[in-house]
Amino acid sequence: MKAISRRDALSTLATGAAGLAVTDVLTAKEARIEKVTPAQSAAALVVPRAFAGQHQPKPLTFDPAKLKGLSEKLIKSHWENNYGGAVKALNAVEQRLAAMLGDKDLPPYIYGDLKREELVRTGSVVLHEKYFANLGGDGKASGKALDLIKQWFGSYEQWEAEFKKTANALGGGSGWTILAYNMHTGEVHNYWAWDHMHNAPMSSPLLVLDMYEHAYHMDYGAAAAEYVDAFVQNANWDEVNRRAEEIISRK
Ligand SMILES: [Fe+2]
Repeated sequence: MKAISRRDALSTLATGAAGLAVTDVLTAKEARIEKVTPAQSAAALVVPRAFAGQHQPKPLTFDPAKLKGLSEKLIKSHWENNYGGAVKALNAVEQRLAAMLGDKDLPPYIYGDLKREELVRTGSVVLHEKYFANLGGDGKASGKALDLIKQWFGSYEQWEAEFKKTANALGGGSGWTILAYNMHTGEVHNYWAWDHMHNAPMSSPLLVLDMYEHAYHMDYGAAAAEYVDAFVQNANWDEVNRRAEEIISRK
């Protein structure tokens, strides 16, 4: 359990787009707190960890100036603005959910909007962290990941062709292409994901490719296929192998 101060809670709420409605809620909450003892006030503001809103961005694990065919400017902008923005948004959503925990008058559909945002932002944070962590390699598949690819796709070449075809199907739009091990079926597939919330249930990512236009437009314009080629050349198969070994050890 993590406690936040009333000032933190007010500050967080006052900055949001939904500030007016949420501030009304908090004002009511404050009014209740004023009528109880200081100890009771502190207890009322203890926030469950699930709503702590304290996520921190993970640093890049490679030198963004040294990728092949992906510029430092693109990677830094993507990391700072899109991924960094997702982390901030997830924190803001969690803190707003925390502020609404005791509000019995809140319409369920308003709460539902925030729960949807929790799912969107969580998906964006997780997938961006997987994406950046599986960049910075030499693009040469090896080890356990290559064994799995051969087992489920016949050869590396057949897997790469299907991975690229899946990614190119998302060109000009949004989404993710995810080589994943499915913990339920025990199978390995290249999954197509239209947005941050779109994942095959029980699938654990091995290699993640960001197909949102912000991931490539600065370098390639609308030529998404060239970006997909560049991504494959920079894939970090050491990280993919680490994920594969971790997933299989959990079975
Ligand atoms: Fe992105």
